[in-house]
Amino acid sequence: MKTVGVIGSGTMGSGIAQQAAMSGCQVLLYDAEQEALTRSKQNLNRILDRLIVKERIDDNEKSRIQNNIRYVNALRDLRPSDLVIEAIVEDLVIKKEVFSKVETIVDTKTILASNTSSLSITAIASSLKQADRCLGIHFFNPVPLMKLVEVIPAVQTDPEILEKTVSFIKTWNKTVAVAKDTPGFIVNRVARPFYGESLRIYEEGLADFHEIDESLKTLGGFRMGPFELMDFIGNDVNYAVTESVFKAFYYDSRYKPSFTQKRLMEAGYLGRKTGRGYYRYDDSANRIKEKSHNAVKPEKAKAIFDRIIAMLINEAADAVYLNIATATDVDLAMTKGVNYPKGLLTWADEIGIDQCVQMIDNLYDEYHDDRYRCSPLLRRMSREGKTFY
Ligand SMILES: NC(=O)c1ccc[n+]([C@@H]2O[C@H](COP(=O)([O-])OP(=O)(O)OC[C@H]3O[C@@H](n4cnc5c(N)ncnc54)[C@H](O)[C@@H]3O)[C@@H](O)[C@H]2O)c1
Repeated sequence: MKTVGVIGSGTMGSGIAQQAAMSGCQVLLYDAEQEALTRSKQNLNRILDRLIVKERIDDNEKSRIQNNIRYVNALRDLRPSDLVIEAIVEDLVIKKEVFSKVETIVDTKTILASNTSSLSITAIASSLKQADRCLGIHFFNPVPLMKLVEVIPAVQTDPEILEKTVSFIKTWNKTVAVAKDTPGFIVNRVARPFYGESLRIYEEGLADFHEIDESLKTLGGFRMGPFELMDFIGNDVNYAVTESVFKAFYYDSRYKPSFTQKRLMEAGYLGRKTGRGYYRYDDSANRIKEKSHNAVKPEKAKAIFDRIIAMLINEAADAVYLNIATATDVDLAMTKGVNYPKGLLTWADEIGIDQCVQMIDNLYDEYHDDRYRCSPLLRRMSREGKTFY
């Protein structure tokens, strides 16, 4: 596969195009908005200049990468693509429309992939006459830096197409995890409590954004706190994923979206890209220093960390319980996909399975909310004295 078509030149499409061009592919990058294409080209120029300063690439390499990308403003220009990766707005109706159009343009052998975070690949594939060539290729932001790629076969996907795609993405020096076509795949399912439980703690008035972020960074070793990360991802994108996962799981209270985040999205406080989210940012998207904060008290930090880590472990265990992926793959996905400092199931073993069950049961006793039900796998393991590794 030499030529890669990318639809959508926003955050993800631009990153995918950069990655493909750096890996030596010819890239055709299309967006419905000319402005988005111009912005993408300017951003790439800036990124490559930074790489030159860091001595990661030289001028020749920069020109080679830039020359590998053609910015096109008509879908029909994607005709020569061997693989098309779609990275447009997270909307099933719009995605299906684009897929059924692109199918009439490209060769019958072209593989058609979606970078969707939360929609059903099977539903997207159903918009095609030749649905067996469709699958999910789910990258993480920023694409060139994040090692993990989840590859998701739809119900209709030809196993050979799956195999070919996995081998191809590995040539981009990525770690591939094949995930079941279930809402959120691995990472976006297992990571939901990182955001959801943090928002809940904030809404209950137990702690502010800063205290929650600090607790997770100090006690957990997370590089970014949940509020910093939501600002980085964009509250619009993050909220849309949560809402879509919530609906897809038949309104399971575990995945319930938050009004705090919804209101921020409605206000246009999307995070770094709009200069304001949970925190404030300057024109270069650097965080504006706030008045100094008191350090979060150790007992409070521990209570915040314990509650969030217990919920994350519970979610990870449930993904294994429901055969979404193996324990090893779940840990790999979280460490390579979202840079968690440790695999959640490795963490569960370290904390102790009994202790994990106890922490979750305590939450259930307190709230009597189905959200805090313990995974049957953890309960069984605790009873049988087992560990994940
Ligand atoms: N942002 C993330 O962290 C992230 C991570 C993984 C996957 N994703 C998924 O990737 C996709 C894109 O997300 P993003 O953050 O890059 O969004 P974005 O808003 O930054 O970019 C989307 C781009 O698509 C263009 N677009 C919209 N409709 C189009 C159409 N019909 N035809 C052509 N172009 C169109 C827009 O002009 C825009 O430039 C979504 O499906 C999202 O769920 C996002």
